[in-house]
Amino acid sequence: MLLNKQSFPMWIHKFMDKYDTPILCIQLGPSTHVVVVSSPYLAWGFLKKQDDVFISRPDFLSSYLISGGYLTTGMTPYGEQWRKMKRIIHREMFSPRIHKWLQPKRDKEADLLLWYICNQIEKQDVVVDGGMINVRTMSQHFFGNILRNMFFGKRFFGQGMEDGGPGKEETEVVDALFTILKYLFAFCITDYFPWLRGKTDFDGHEKMMKTAIGIVRRYQDPLIDERNQMWNNGARKEKCDLLDVLITNEDPKLTPEEIKAQIVEIMIASIDNTSNAIEWAISEMIDKPTILKRAVEELDHVVGCQKLVEECDLPQLNYLKACIKETFRLHPFIHFVPPHVSTMDTTVAGYFIPKGSHVILSRFGLGRNPNVWANPLQFDPDRHLLSEGNQVVLSDSDLRLILFSTGKRGCPGITLGTTMTTMMLARMVQGFTWEAPCNEPSIELVENHNELCLAKPLVAIAKPRLPRYMYPKY
Ligand code: HEM
Repeated sequence: MLLNKQSFPMWIHKFMDKYDTPILCIQLGPSTHVVVVSSPYLAWGFLKKQDDVFISRPDFLSSYLISGGYLTTGMTPYGEQWRKMKRIIHREMFSPRIHKWLQPKRDKEADLLLWYICNQIEKQDVVVDGGMINVRTMSQHFFGNILRNMFFGKRFFGQGMEDGGPGKEETEVVDALFTILKYLFAFCITDYFPWLRGKTDFDGHEKMMKTAIGIVRRYQDPLIDERNQMWNNGARKEKCDLLDVLITNEDPKLTPEEIKAQIVEIMIASIDNTSNAIEWAISEMIDKPTILKRAVEELDHVVGCQKLVEECDLPQLNYLKACIKETFRLHPFIHFVPPHVSTMDTTVAGYFIPKGSHVILSRFGLGRNPNVWANPLQFDPDRHLLSEGNQVVLSDSDLRLILFSTGKRGCPGITLGTTMTTMMLARMVQGFTWEAPCNEPSIELVENHNELCLAKPLVAIAKPRLPRYMYPKY
């Protein structure tokens, strides 16, 4: 089963369905207990009631390589290094103050998004007033651009394209990030038979990971070294982006290796959930025009047609946020939350869980649990409006679905992730009408074999719906 690891998550879910169980324990290799959970009640028992017990991460080859030998936050097992980096992330990188400071960079990217779409439409003179847009490529690069801008103060490693699209360097890096994501927490054999580690690259996992991480670091590390030198020799005096913040942080001081590994990890953490949600949300909206129409009406009502939607408008766009929340419920990017490892023997809801167990919450199983959600396979944003009154928040503290998870290992990028995702969808829906391509009757809402992303990247027709003068030009 592990050798065919692409289908392993599906095998687990089929097994849980067959035995109608919300909790399952599998022993992988000689000693690893993997506990899978798909009910909110049990998820609470693990991540809410005993957050301090299930606070560690497993020692996996991929985690070790990405984190530069456990120097970062997300991959690093519980201990002093994790605490240090988590503190930096919360206080220095994603605090409300820093979020506000970095807003101009996000605003610029939101404008460039409209400009990029308009450029694509103009280039395609076969269609009179609309153009085909590859939503997958566009959203992956939108989030990559924001993060590069936040860290390095620039969107491109090279020259980029004249129409605002990614150059070959950014394309190479984004592809490498998705390769890393594919092999991360992917039930690699050597992770469960540790004596194989270092002796044989059993399924080519190690080579693939090393190559992909090497690509990302080949572009990022020289920028970090150069900036470090500028601070050391006094050539730089003002903090303009997150890299400056990390280099100049005094308490505690970070080494260049810590900074390099942490930035790689953040790049990985911020690109998959966001871009996948945009692609599925627009696909579902094109497939169900009444939902798209309601989102447009909300934008017209809240923002109007005389100004572009801004970050300050986002809290009022409850229907749009309900669409995003529903997308995360039904279409998570991956099946599971990263494993939480227990730091001692314990009992949860009557089940004995030995120290060292890997607990994985199923995003897929929770989001589609028929005991929690009526008609779970139906895309229905209204269910969030009804349950949350008029203020929809993209959080999941009751663990009925997984967005950012919860507790000490919960996502530190919740504000940034929410803002970037909502803003991108808001700009797309306000600025353009979206339809299936002319030669296709509808959007194929089909998942990739054994994965949860769309089988075919979404290519849709966009037509401007605002007066021409409102679209930014560069
Ligand atoms: C919509 C976007 C996002 C979603 C849905 C999301 C979701 C998640 C989830 C489910 C986890 C695992 C939590 C757990 O183990 O219980 C996580 C962890 C993490 N996320 Fe996010 N995330 C998003 C965006 C971001 C962004 C933008 C950043 C960084 C700027 C980020 C940084 C991290 C880090 C560093 C961790 C590891 C935390 C730790 O282990 O201590 N995420 N995220």
